[in-house]
Amino acid sequence: MKTYRIAAIPGDGIGSEVVAAGIEVLNALALRDGNFGFKFDHFDWGGAYYKTHGRMMPENGRDQIRDHDAILFGSAGHPDIPDHITLWGLRLAICQPFDQYANVRPTRVLPGITSPLRHVESKELDWVIVRENSEGEYAGVGGRAHQGSPLEVATDVAMFTRAGVERIMRFAFKLARSRPRKLLTVVTKSNAQRHAMVMWDEIAREIAKEFPDVTWDKMLVDAMTMRMVIKPETIDTIVATNLHADILSDLAAALAGSLGIAPTGNINPERTFPSMFEPIHGSAFDIMGKGIANPIGTFWSAVMMLEHLGEQAGADRLMTAIERVTADKRFHTPDLGGSARTTDVTKAVVDAIQGRND
Ligand code: IPM
Ligand code: MG
Repeated sequence: MKTYRIAAIPGDGIGSEVVAAGIEVLNALALRDGNFGFKFDHFDWGGAYYKTHGRMMPENGRDQIRDHDAILFGSAGHPDIPDHITLWGLRLAICQPFDQYANVRPTRVLPGITSPLRHVESKELDWVIVRENSEGEYAGVGGRAHQGSPLEVATDVAMFTRAGVERIMRFAFKLARSRPRKLLTVVTKSNAQRHAMVMWDEIAREIAKEFPDVTWDKMLVDAMTMRMVIKPETIDTIVATNLHADILSDLAAALAGSLGIAPTGNINPERTFPSMFEPIHGSAFDIMGKGIANPIGTFWSAVMMLEHLGEQAGADRLMTAIERVTADKRFHTPDLGGSARTTDVTKAVVDAIQGRND
């Protein structure tokens, strides 16, 4: 039996609630399957750790998780600590050095969940957003000078490398090719951003030649938001820069019914480092500790983790269990308009895994 070593980093806010639920479901799945198991190592990094130690994770934190098979992450963010510190001190401090350059965000309208778009069904909204996750607007290049004076200046430089764009483009084309419609939309803003975004368009054209079986088009990011709302059925796989895709993926999650169900994988395709899986929703302090966080985003992220580990049968079983549970409105948490609690949804998914509500 294969035992996967998973680093669990619940982080802050509802992160600990949803990661605990995710672990429960993954253990149930392993028990049901019998061919694989998990060993979870827990890391208490995040806002509380920062308050004691002055940093979000230990200096050798990455060494502690480098050899794990995958990372299950909750969220980072604390009401008393500036967001740029929590982000750069933990999530980006893992994503960037571990070269998890492909951030993959599937969006679908799951059974039982209503899209705010009229008449939209699952088959008309079935997208994967590929977000460049290592450079661009999140490169961290820039600075501030003359703080507090009227001459104060601040810059954030979006930095794009040919190597970085080529690899994300190739990843996106490959992913598009693996999906039935073989359709990719390359999103940029190459009218206004006349250097790097023009390079994106050029590189897209070059890489497209390696994938003659993939149909692709390109779209400016502002127009893309309209297309997502007005013609969702014309979209399948999307590739965009770090910031553009960040924004598009919130829109996508809302159109699919709730940010609470949206999953993501921060993937290191070459597998030189572990990949990291997390729900897209943040730490949600307003509902922290109330037991009403939607764990579906974490469960779906666990599906992505299983796929990455090569456990396709387990991934399919978990996704089927999730869909069975979302189809039943009794298990909708408040973000979906219901009154179910995290534990209700978790138990229902565990039951579905065990085939108890067949
Ligand atoms: C996301 C989030 C993060 C991001 C925040 C929490 C910094 O919005 O994963 O989409 O912008 O990357
Ligand atoms: Mg976001």
